[in-house]
Amino acid sequence: MKSDTIDAAVLGIGYMGGIHLAAAEESPCINKVYGYEPDRAKAEKSGKELGIEVTSDLEAILENPEIKLIYIASPNRYHSELAVKALRAGKSVLCEKPMGETLEQAEKLIHAGKETGNFLQIGFEIHYSKVYLLAKEWIDRGLIGTPVNCHVQYYSSEFHKKNTWRSNSEGSLIGEKLSHYLDMQKWFIGDEVEEVFSLSSPNVVPYFNHPDNHQISMRFKNGAVSQLNFLMYLAETDEGDPLLDTLKKQEDDGHALKTYIMGKKGAIEIDIFKRRIRRWEFKDSPIQLTSKIVETVTYTKEEEITWMHNVHGQNLRIAELAAKGLPPEVPASDAFNTMQICFAAEISEKEHRIVKLEEL
Ligand SMILES: NC(=O)c1ccc[n+]([C@@H]2O[C@H](COP(=O)([O-])OP(=O)(O)OC[C@H]3O[C@@H](n4cnc5c(N)ncnc54)[C@H](O)[C@@H]3O)[C@@H](O)[C@H]2O)c1
Repeated sequence: MKSDTIDAAVLGIGYMGGIHLAAAEESPCINKVYGYEPDRAKAEKSGKELGIEVTSDLEAILENPEIKLIYIASPNRYHSELAVKALRAGKSVLCEKPMGETLEQAEKLIHAGKETGNFLQIGFEIHYSKVYLLAKEWIDRGLIGTPVNCHVQYYSSEFHKKNTWRSNSEGSLIGEKLSHYLDMQKWFIGDEVEEVFSLSSPNVVPYFNHPDNHQISMRFKNGAVSQLNFLMYLAETDEGDPLLDTLKKQEDDGHALKTYIMGKKGAIEIDIFKRRIRRWEFKDSPIQLTSKIVETVTYTKEEEITWMHNVHGQNLRIAELAAKGLPPEVPASDAFNTMQICFAAEISEKEHRIVKLEEL
């Protein structure tokens, strides 16, 4: 047994659960890791395949005093219920985004976090991903001046497929997918969001239970604004996650995941399909405002996992924080604020109006 270690459990052993499991197994702070799948046959099958104890008895996990940390990677509709139970059982919790499919679910979760005072962090791993951390570092060093405008352009293939929990979900793609990028825009601008306005056109994908496109604008207290454009059908269909698969091809088949951060003195562009981040400097001249690209950083396919969506790195860190009794690095209250923005965008689309965050 590793010394000064805790046991952990992963609830929901699907695609993301597997990533959480791998980090827990690698962490020097975790002694033993358990799994939970509500269906007994599935629990047995994944236990055999993974060579770990996977149970369909949630209470057994919650009552086990050695299990101090719970990773939640179930379908979204169960996040709040599972996380609240785990917090009330005295566990530290890393819960995947979103905090709920409804504002009420997210509120229940944040209240349980506050009431119990237990460790609660939401899986916004962009805060641990090197390309976004570099942008944040450039902003914090004042290299682009005050950020006043942030644009995200995200176009992908349809990769949620027919009759899955994602395509049938009551919750929208704003919570499921775009919460990462709304959270990131807020992080880069570094101020409170005051109001949200969002539009979506009629669907192209006929079998989604929610819109397949969104145009979300935010206005911040300091006057900065942001815009996020999302479509989930344009790019040529790929079998796997389009962000991880055949990047070279996708760079020119309709996929885009670009972020622009405009400051008073310069700008930053992050282009995920080019594996590149660049920085511009603005200067005055007798004729006009001039602009020059002064820094370009690229990364390789092998480095992608830590540069783009560093769930593994986030989870290693969470294990360390939980084992040492340290507080979350990305406060759950920030994540809850992002969830409020997501629900404000949904209300805005339904009611065709600007929604002030203070209404929620
Ligand atoms: N942070 C990220 O970048 C990121 C990326 C992908 C997925 N996710 C999140 O991870 C979660 C899981 O996504 P996925 O792609 O692994 O889905 P998945 O369908 O592959 O896995 C979900 C697993 O949860 C199990 N499950 C079903 N009901 C459950 C319940 N009541 N309690 C516990 N487990 C239950 C399913 O049997 C399945 O094994 C989602 O919330 C998703 O938003 C996050």
